[in-house]
Amino acid sequence: MDDLKAKYLSQIAEASDEAVLEDIRLAAVGKKGEVSLKMRELGRMTAEERQVAGPALNALKAEINSALAAKKAGLADAALDARLRSEWLDVTLPTRPDRHGTIHPISQVTEEVTAIFADMGFSVAEGPRIDTDWYNFDALNIPGHHPARAEMDTFYMHRAEGDDRPPHVLRTHTSPVQIRSMEATGAPMRIICPGGVYRADYDQTHTPMFHQVEGLAIGKDISMANLKWVLEEFVKSYFEVDGVDLRFRASHFPFTEPSAEVDIRCSWEGGTLKVGEGDDWLEILGSGMVHPKVLLAGGIDPEQWQGFAFGMGIDRIAMLKYGIPDLRAFFDSDLRWLRHYGFAALDVPTLHGGLSR
Ligand code: PHE
Repeated sequence: MDDLKAKYLSQIAEASDEAVLEDIRLAAVGKKGEVSLKMRELGRMTAEERQVAGPALNALKAEINSALAAKKAGLADAALDARLRSEWLDVTLPTRPDRHGTIHPISQVTEEVTAIFADMGFSVAEGPRIDTDWYNFDALNIPGHHPARAEMDTFYMHRAEGDDRPPHVLRTHTSPVQIRSMEATGAPMRIICPGGVYRADYDQTHTPMFHQVEGLAIGKDISMANLKWVLEEFVKSYFEVDGVDLRFRASHFPFTEPSAEVDIRCSWEGGTLKVGEGDDWLEILGSGMVHPKVLLAGGIDPEQWQGFAFGMGIDRIAMLKYGIPDLRAFFDSDLRWLRHYGFAALDVPTLHGGLSR
């Protein structure tokens, strides 16, 4: 009995898991275990022998059972400890930005532009991308015969057979929102309107769908000087530099008088586009003083009010700021391009937090 006790207690002490422990239990105190078989022999003993062996066997069985139970509890604790150690997690670590989805440069730049103009008191207005030719052309002093209609390579929508109303167009610029905003709020006003526009054109710097941001400020004495200051302030904030060379070139738009196109100094050396240096100029916007006929079309009295307007290419200024050489890549949806040029979702541009950091 002492041998049995020594054998099983040491096996139990060494058992490495619950399966091994169960095997030991069966071998010792299971129905056909060694201790159980010994108990069956009690029947063949004399009464005196039984009086000694009986209690001793019972004590042995009890001792093995309690050793099994203690070991089992110990193994369960060890298993829990191991699991807690392997599933350890530091909840105080900062989150990692998820790089699977990124903000497209167009969206990022739209937010940047909005933050800068909001700081100068402009609010955001919107209009439909499919518009009537009245809003897109006539109200902007571009009558039916005007060459600007042809120059803009307009996409016309189909009308049903027998419907002779003028066709809708995919807006060729954001300028129709000038008229819609004048109608909606009247003067004085200060708005920008970012959004997609369409023209049939395709090369390294032109795509059939691209983005503009319209600006419009109307007041009693708003002048060309205000336009120039606002644009210079914008360009400095946007490119995050103290000064950038701008070139105001006299130009012509039917909806502004006088008109100017604005170019920004840049270089294309070695195929990379750099802003603020070199001898090249990239046109980024058209602008001017709102034509009296346009104010009239929007229901504003040109004898009382005047203002400036501009239309800037969002994609153009995104290319310039972030060194993106080919406009067409913006709309290819190439994941490698999007991961390279995209922005982390939590980097919302603000003037106080930094535009592009
Ligand atoms: N709508 C013009 C364009 O698309 C830009 C512009 C807007 C020019 C406002 C003057 C004033 O080219």
